[in-house]
Amino acid sequence: MASQAQSDLAHGGASGHGARHVAIIMDGNGRWAKKRFLPRIAGHRAGVEAVRRVARAARELGLECLTLYAFSSENWKRPANEVADLMRLLRHFIESDLDEFHANGVRLRVIGHYRALDPALVDLIEQAVERTSANTGPIIAIALNYGAQDELVRAAQSIVRRVQSGQLDPEAIGIDDVEAGLDTAGLPPLDLLIRTSGEQRLSNFMLWQAAYAELYFTDTLWPDFDGSALAEAIDAFRLRDRRFGGL
Ligand code: FPP
Repeated sequence: MASQAQSDLAHGGASGHGARHVAIIMDGNGRWAKKRFLPRIAGHRAGVEAVRRVARAARELGLECLTLYAFSSENWKRPANEVADLMRLLRHFIESDLDEFHANGVRLRVIGHYRALDPALVDLIEQAVERTSANTGPIIAIALNYGAQDELVRAAQSIVRRVQSGQLDPEAIGIDDVEAGLDTAGLPPLDLLIRTSGEQRLSNFMLWQAAYAELYFTDTLWPDFDGSALAEAIDAFRLRDRRFGGL
């Protein structure tokens, strides 16, 4: 049976589901490859295909923002050749898919300490973000060299700088000041956080933003995830009773 969100999708994305911002921890590429006796890179390549499918579905489902955890600040611990493969895939992805994103009005954003990446990749990212910045369609935010604790430290540093320069009174610091210093400043509030592959943890992803997000865990490995899996997650979200601490 088609899900409600899928039927929205079939009818041009009239989104009554209320999910504005969905974030995904794309996990399970390695296990997907292992099951097929393939090298891990084959799992990551299939993961890029899933990114394409899901980015398209997000647009059709009327999401305002889709945030994807592509490389964490802890992923540097992986073997150097796997890190290099992931960086290469990311570069190819931006080079090959940017035109389609742009043609569809997508705005590309990056969260995380991406400036520490290879300078050529940093340039490519900044050009892609700049090229799509005036678009008015959905936002695809890619988390690169992202760690929520690092993001909060950087937000704290920016607050301290504002205090030191006399722009901000320490007693007046509020939630908005922290949010303004996060990489996600300006993005809609996070509604739904999905993790694939059966693991049930946040792994340093969007810890602040997840304060009132609904969490959704699925056993599906990331390379098998697609538009109907996203629609199913959004259907589950629609049934949640969100109270934000109230009654
Ligand atoms: C987790 O699977 C996945 C990653 C660490 C990388 C995610 C990257 C992609 C989907 C491809 C590049 C992204 C873009 C946006 C082009 P894992 O390797 O930890 O899987 P395992 O837990 O089964 O070993």
